Amino acid sequence: MIVTRPPMGWNSWNTFGPDISEEVVMRSADAMVENGLLAAGYEYLVIDDCWSKRVRGADGRLEADPEKFPHGMKYVADYVHSKGLKFGMYSCAGPLTCARYPGSFDHEFVDAATFAAWGVDYLKYDYCFHPSTRRGEDLYRRMGVALANCGRDIVFSGCSWGVEDTKQWMAGTGCHLWRSTGDIHDSWASIRSIAQAQLPDQIYGRINCFNDMDMLVVGMYGKGHAALTGCTDEEYRTHFSLWAFLSSPLMIGCDIRNMSEGARAILLNPEVIAINQDGAGRMAFRIYDGNAGWNDPAQSFVFGRLMENGDIAIGLFNLADGACCQHFAAENLGLAVGTGRTLVLHDVWSGEDTVMDNEIFQCDVPAHGCRVFRARVVER
Ligand code: GLA
Repeated sequence: MIVTRPPMGWNSWNTFGPDISEEVVMRSADAMVENGLLAAGYEYLVIDDCWSKRVRGADGRLEADPEKFPHGMKYVADYVHSKGLKFGMYSCAGPLTCARYPGSFDHEFVDAATFAAWGVDYLKYDYCFHPSTRRGEDLYRRMGVALANCGRDIVFSGCSWGVEDTKQWMAGTGCHLWRSTGDIHDSWASIRSIAQAQLPDQIYGRINCFNDMDMLVVGMYGKGHAALTGCTDEEYRTHFSLWAFLSSPLMIGCDIRNMSEGARAILLNPEVIAINQDGAGRMAFRIYDGNAGWNDPAQSFVFGRLMENGDIAIGLFNLADGACCQHFAAENLGLAVGTGRTLVLHDVWSGEDTVMDNEIFQCDVPAHGCRVFRARVVER
């Protein structure tokens, strides 16, 4: 199968960690529909680690923990599908998962068959306890080939955290997305460090093998398994805009059964989602920021992205602890002076339109903030 757009959905880990259950999953499925998340494009509901028994069954197959999932996993998958959602699960390239449940090493084909029989549509595949005698590339390819031959379309989500130069080999394993960073936590420091680590690796993202910057922490506000200090809505907006801009999958991690209005407004912003999901699938490029020597390039950057309909998405990001002034030039967006064209800058967060009447556009961006525009080319 070909995955042409970054997958969107919800994953259980950030909020629930090991405390996952049939009840949590089914009520989260309800919430995905009731909160408008499915309608906005969030279609995958993914159960992360800690869903199985501690040992395989006598037939060598993985079995759901009967205390957490008393009706078995097919029942849960059927419920998720009945809501119009797609169903995702989790395993690991090692003999154990990160939380020490059975992993798929040397069981790749039987596990792919089990997942297919349950109706799984998406598999997140972790890298803990992988045998050091095998190359990561070969371990991921084992599951890639098993899934491609299991008789069901299953999105393959590799999760080796970018280690061992994952970016060089992941596309050849059959993965449709690959974790390019370590685990996220609900703090501004975590968001910033993932974003910065991603800057040089951004170019490795592509259709059918998207860089995965990890699940979103938007709306956690310091609660849940991956919680730390929590963030402000301004910081969550910057986080969401960056993930969207850099074509990362948008996998929500907060408790969607109890979402705040602030989180809803961020996660459901259709224009930011549209940038992430744009059909051209072009990666972002860093817009030359001339001699903006007063800003630290590791904390302050401007991205552009060419959209399928001819628009240009422009994101000005300020990860620094103080406000800064950022700018971009029409020249660096394909609009040389003699073209007789300029841009109408539509701010996707405020809804305001501004005509760019100079060669250079400049604006203040608050600490930990961003400005994101969808720019339309017009006659001057
Ligand atoms: C690793 C992954 C996380 C999560 C946990 C589960 O740390 O990177 O995203 O899946 O394992 O144990």
